[in-house]
Amino acid sequence: MEITAAVVKEKWSNFELTKVVLDQPKSDEVLVKIVATGICHTDMVARDFIMGAPNFPVILGHEGAGIIESVGADVHHLNVGDHVVLTYGYCGECEICRSGNPAYCHDFFQRNFSGARVDGSHSHHYHDAKAIHDNFFSQSSFATYAVAHKNNVIRVPKDAPLEILGPLGCGIQTGAGAIINSLRVKVGSSVLITGTGAVGLSALMAAKASSATTIIAVDINDERLEFSKELGATHTINSLREDVSQRIREILPNGVQYGVDTTGRNEVINNILSSLAPVGELVCIGVARKPLELETNIFLTKGYKIKFINQGDSVPQEFIPKLIHMYQGGQFPFNKLIKKYAFQDINQAIEDSEKGRTIKSVLLIGNYNN
Ligand SMILES: NC(=O)c1ccc[n+]([C@@H]2O[C@H](COP(=O)([O-])OP(=O)(O)OC[C@H]3O[C@@H](n4cnc5c(N)ncnc54)[C@H](O)[C@@H]3O)[C@@H](O)[C@H]2O)c1
Ligand SMILES: [Zn+2]
Ligand SMILES: [Zn+2]
Repeated sequence: MEITAAVVKEKWSNFELTKVVLDQPKSDEVLVKIVATGICHTDMVARDFIMGAPNFPVILGHEGAGIIESVGADVHHLNVGDHVVLTYGYCGECEICRSGNPAYCHDFFQRNFSGARVDGSHSHHYHDAKAIHDNFFSQSSFATYAVAHKNNVIRVPKDAPLEILGPLGCGIQTGAGAIINSLRVKVGSSVLITGTGAVGLSALMAAKASSATTIIAVDINDERLEFSKELGATHTINSLREDVSQRIREILPNGVQYGVDTTGRNEVINNILSSLAPVGELVCIGVARKPLELETNIFLTKGYKIKFINQGDSVPQEFIPKLIHMYQGGQFPFNKLIKKYAFQDINQAIEDSEKGRTIKSVLLIGNYNN
């Protein structure tokens, strides 16, 4: 079928809305009419070829939400007309997936970053039959329609606002999952979050929902720090103007129990470590643009745990519906992070995300009736 997709022709270039051909889904796949897709920094990381990116031309987009149009013969748990959120790809069969850790699937790279299906095939091509790299996060959802694997299609309730749900499939579950799944933050505890973009603010809202009582947000952007207070930060620190470790010791003389880094920056991660309480725990989420250097000797007497996590350690079939429940109950107002753009304004939406003007951009792609 002919669809419209945002194609990136080469490294660092713009997204171009292009008419391309999408094949019918294979037996273990699903065809989804895309209603909206979030923009995540990992789309830019792939466009810039920084981390495990597919080749060009490529169709990116990995926070899709839409309606099932057709299902392959081996898909039994999903139906035409279901409202769905698309998340990251995993096989569901390797021992890591079967142990309840699909974000660390043995096939993670191939199913999310290789630019093709596991068997090397593509479902998108130009009218002259030239293949386009695709299957980004098993979806490539910057398009009017997407083919996804049955495992990464999550049915969601029809009374939830489908046009804002896509980011639950990556950025939002990543931040919220860091708090709820990875750290299992305890009631009454203290949490430090560095970087208050979509991932950091999702962590912040989850920390509040988990009844953490001291929540410190660090950023270099005053507007985002102000907004953090609205979402539940008890303290904010602008690291351009203030000494982060010193401020944290003033707030918490014994140090902070949990840290979440979304910046991937050396100095920021070292600041968190120097502010952690003994047996404190840090999770690192941000994609680093340089290798990390740590003064490890201090950890030997501190009992720190540092974990590098993917997708908030989420089991998406379970976690995404839980986040929607929390949203509907008023405990997780992730809608406040979102700004909507028309699909044709994708380059503006990307630029606004990169310049920090929007926290979570969502492209409105197709219509639906609730
Ligand atoms: N591992 C995963 O599963 C996963 C999933 C989604 C996103 N990510 C990554 O997480 C990161 C965060 O994503 P996002 O969408 O929230 O990005 P974002 O750019 O919106 O947020 C990053 C924030 O960090 C702040 N910042 C930059 N330098 C800083 C400094 N020196 N000190 C303090 N704050 C600083 C920025 O002002 C910004 O507010 C990205 O690297 C993204 O690629 C990882
Ligand atoms: Zn697996
Ligand atoms: Zn993402």
